[in-house]
Amino acid sequence: MIPVARPFIGTEEEHAVVEALRSGWITQGPRVAEFEKAFSTYIGCAHAVAVSSCTTALHLALIASGIGAGDEVICPSLSFIATANSITYAGATPVFCDIDLATYNLDPSEIVKLITPRTKAILVVHQIGLAAEMNAILAISREYGLTVIEDAACAIGSEYEGSLIGKPLGTLACFSFHPRKILTTGEGGMITTNDPSLADKLRKLRQHAMSLSDVARHNAKQVATETYDEVGYNFRMTDMQAAMGIVQLNRLQDFLQRRRSLALRYDEALDSFPWLETPRVPRNCRHNYQSYMIRLIDSSSIKRDLIMQEMLEKNISTRRAIMAIHREAPYRSARWENTLSRTNLATDTALILPLFHQMTDADQDYVIETLYSIAR
Ligand SMILES: Cc1ncc(COP(=O)(O)O)c(C=O)c1O
Repeated sequence: MIPVARPFIGTEEEHAVVEALRSGWITQGPRVAEFEKAFSTYIGCAHAVAVSSCTTALHLALIASGIGAGDEVICPSLSFIATANSITYAGATPVFCDIDLATYNLDPSEIVKLITPRTKAILVVHQIGLAAEMNAILAISREYGLTVIEDAACAIGSEYEGSLIGKPLGTLACFSFHPRKILTTGEGGMITTNDPSLADKLRKLRQHAMSLSDVARHNAKQVATETYDEVGYNFRMTDMQAAMGIVQLNRLQDFLQRRRSLALRYDEALDSFPWLETPRVPRNCRHNYQSYMIRLIDSSSIKRDLIMQEMLEKNISTRRAIMAIHREAPYRSARWENTLSRTNLATDTALILPLFHQMTDADQDYVIETLYSIAR
């Protein structure tokens, strides 16, 4: 069976996790600090704050930005449901914006139409690792005084205008280390920012809003007592996760190189198929190919599902395209179904092909040949 994705975990990760287990510090300790330092150095941002997932990263980013009850946050519906859920957790309302079908990212000209006096922020998703049109989005945010938070769950190693995603372009960017992502810690997330006061706020809020971190208390030469000035959260990352993250970060260039070369092989093989579209990457972007998604030109989802079934019968696992959040029960409404036509088309007609670090050229040739035979 060729899976759609598979994490790459070697013996170095195993050793690093065992070392952390034996060290005595197993959560929010020295390895978390080391992972944060390595991550911010790699990205080129001032601060990186580790948390338990990208979902908690987004939740915290919104709260730290002062977004709450009565506020509206514009985001795509074509995303994983956690994007909208994080807005709901903060007490705000997600307002779904349609996408550009060429990139599957927010269409800036649609954003402007959704701005109301209650709009406080734009939660931009760099979808499956392709950067959104940030110059236009940032221009809108400046004009209307909106905060920009980046959902960079899938965007580690992706570039926009020659810079890595996460520097960040907005005020905060949030990454995921779920096993489906290029770099994994099992579960985990990271928030990057250049704003020192936001970073302090995030560090406090992720551990119950304690005035003193566990490490500071441990190292104190005099008895120290912490205070809790607001309601915080337990969004800590463990040292076992961080230890794994440090090793994975060292492998990242290899991961990215292999994914880009596999994506190029798919492009070359599939570009001639008149019935599908391969990913289009704008000149100012560099894709990390977190996922390789193709879209059928035919506008019926039946055809896509038949192809997926035939592939499965030939032992190839695929996935339906990115979900449309507005079609799920908590967010369903006629307003969205009637205004998000490109989102609906994308979610109905796209599919994700297998792509992972260990995938061999022979595996990939088999996927391509199977698609050819289905087309015939
Ligand atoms: C765009 C997007 N945002 C948020 C998340 C949530 O990430 P996590 O599973 O780390 O909470 C995901 C996960 O797939 C995602 O794709």
